[in-house]
Amino acid sequence: MEQKIEKRIEELTKILNQANYDYYVLDDSKITDQEYDKYLRELEELEAKYPHFAKEDSPTKRVGGEVIASFQKVEHKIPMLSLGDVFNESEIISFDASVRKVVPNPTYYCELKIDGLSVSLRYEKGILTKAATRGNGVVGEDITHNVKTIKSVPLKLKEEIDIEVRGEIFMSKKTLEKINAEREKENLPLLQNPRNAAAGSIRQLDSKVAAKRNLDTFIYHLPNPEAYGFSYHHEGIDFMKKLGFKTNPNNRLVSSISEVLDYIAEKQELRPSLPYEIDGIVIKVDSIASQQKLGFTARTPKWAIAYKFPAEEVLTKLTDILFTVGRTGQITPNAVLEPVIVMGSTISRATLHNEDYVKEKDLMINDIVSIRKAGDVIPEVVSVKKERRDGSQIPFQMITHCPICGDVLSKKEGQVDYFCLNEKCPARKVEGFIHFVSRPAMNIDGFGARIMEDLYNFGFIRSIRDIYDLKKHREDLIRLEGYGEKSVDNLLESIEKSKENSLERLLFGLGIVHVGSKTAKILAEHFQTMENLMQAPLSTLVEIPDIGMTIGKSVVEYFAKEENRKLLEDLKALGLCFTYKGGPVLENSEFQGKTFVLTGTLSKMGREEAKEMIEARGGKTSSSVSSKTGCVIVGENPGSKYEKAKELGIPIWSEEEFLGKL
Ligand code: IVH
Repeated sequence: MEQKIEKRIEELTKILNQANYDYYVLDDSKITDQEYDKYLRELEELEAKYPHFAKEDSPTKRVGGEVIASFQKVEHKIPMLSLGDVFNESEIISFDASVRKVVPNPTYYCELKIDGLSVSLRYEKGILTKAATRGNGVVGEDITHNVKTIKSVPLKLKEEIDIEVRGEIFMSKKTLEKINAEREKENLPLLQNPRNAAAGSIRQLDSKVAAKRNLDTFIYHLPNPEAYGFSYHHEGIDFMKKLGFKTNPNNRLVSSISEVLDYIAEKQELRPSLPYEIDGIVIKVDSIASQQKLGFTARTPKWAIAYKFPAEEVLTKLTDILFTVGRTGQITPNAVLEPVIVMGSTISRATLHNEDYVKEKDLMINDIVSIRKAGDVIPEVVSVKKERRDGSQIPFQMITHCPICGDVLSKKEGQVDYFCLNEKCPARKVEGFIHFVSRPAMNIDGFGARIMEDLYNFGFIRSIRDIYDLKKHREDLIRLEGYGEKSVDNLLESIEKSKENSLERLLFGLGIVHVGSKTAKILAEHFQTMENLMQAPLSTLVEIPDIGMTIGKSVVEYFAKEENRKLLEDLKALGLCFTYKGGPVLENSEFQGKTFVLTGTLSKMGREEAKEMIEARGGKTSSSVSSKTGCVIVGENPGSKYEKAKELGIPIWSEEEFLGKL
């Protein structure tokens, strides 16, 4: 009798696991839902009565129920790495070029980049024993109880082997929609995207929650293929498929980078019709020996990259609107967003420019907004999803007082911006100091905004002159948390070096109203020394081309103030250079009157230096490409500006050509 029951349990387990595999891995079910349920119920009843006969790969384990107290740490013996991202064709071609330097004729394996979270699965003698998140790559968290509920993860493999495989856990678009429809009915906050939904489901202590979320997997990585006798990545994929894992049917072996580009175009078209979200394409060198030759950087393999699809608009919640005070006292509203990843970086803030901008877009706190990264870096709020308002929205209210010093804000007739006019406002002062040390001004290396804020808050810096007195506090600085001896010494050295800067940098750094870097250059060149400029009457100033009444008045006003004259006296005593070091503007017809845009990294000079060179030859620089752009100078790893220039047919110079023209 007992023997018969044991056999039946074994039989039912087999039937149900096969049905699961057919349905969830092969997407080809052979029995009806009713039949499945009938077998499952029979098995549940038998297991309840005879628990000692229950198999370790019993499908009843998938329904969840196991509740853990906390997530245990799991060490990844082979670190779980992430991939380097690229965003355009030329970066893909650079990747191919860097591979070719080591491997002459690479064959690539292309895969979809599944938008989910990575998982490591360990099997002993064919039985799933441990599932873990990536964590920091070296130590992850044990999520075995939840992963067992995922139907496409085999609890038992087709072979009784020890193996670790890695892949992605994800939620289908349909499931996300369904869950959100239910959550909406229950007035619960909606899951924002499949990635967060999958991650949220996996980070549950109670596996019943994960079981209900209908998660799925694709397996794409065998960490140690050599151990199984494989010489190619694709052999590992085929092997994992044979063992019972779900691998992606879109994977393709290609023999050239142009085929990679075709694959990308094809899959980009396929993307909307896929039942799950992908955010790019993964390109891997197929040969394991070649992979080993190419090796790794600290965090990513050099034999693979992820091509990310172009800026998608991403939905997130606008949780608050905070106001910041700029150097000139200008008040800017900023969107505080529930963090989301847009083009590879986490966005949690976006500028909202001014009151009118917020009102035009009709933004309310707690709105779901669509955001994207404009151009290369700056994230922006594109629009608001009014249909997703749920009554929790709070209307936007412009502030009337400075959020830092509390002074009443002022707004000039016909202008959009509010200003804090208190010159002693701490926010304005700190922003002014940050401007002083910034790249286009005194260019003090290693002096970022955070350090300045710290040093202001600790009381080390209350005036520009204090920056040059910091060396007196060397010991105190070293003792501050997060400031090692080396970084303090580097900073102090950069500060000393900045004393030698040519006059225009200091002039720009002072933050005189209406004196931008170009005006500073004109003034420095014209007057040659700070003393000459300080004595110049308005009538002399306005005679200089490009210097109008507004700038002239502002300059005279600045130097008329006793405190400013005292500051300059102190800076001179501290040893700052008060003379113009640059030569006269060089005549060069290649640059004269043309607008240049730089993209990518130049190897022979910094961006600021390149700009100076262009401007010294009568050219202008701009940060965005338009039909008015005269020429785009392309360094290594260029961004979308390069693409745009090609599209618009704008002349393109490589760094070498640029140097030649100089
Ligand atoms: S390969 C060393 N292949 O993308 C190899 N990753 O940014 C590491 N991902 O952490 C991963 N689809 O979570 C690989 N077909 C795929 C992938 C993929 C999605 C994720 C994975 C990884 C991240 C890298």
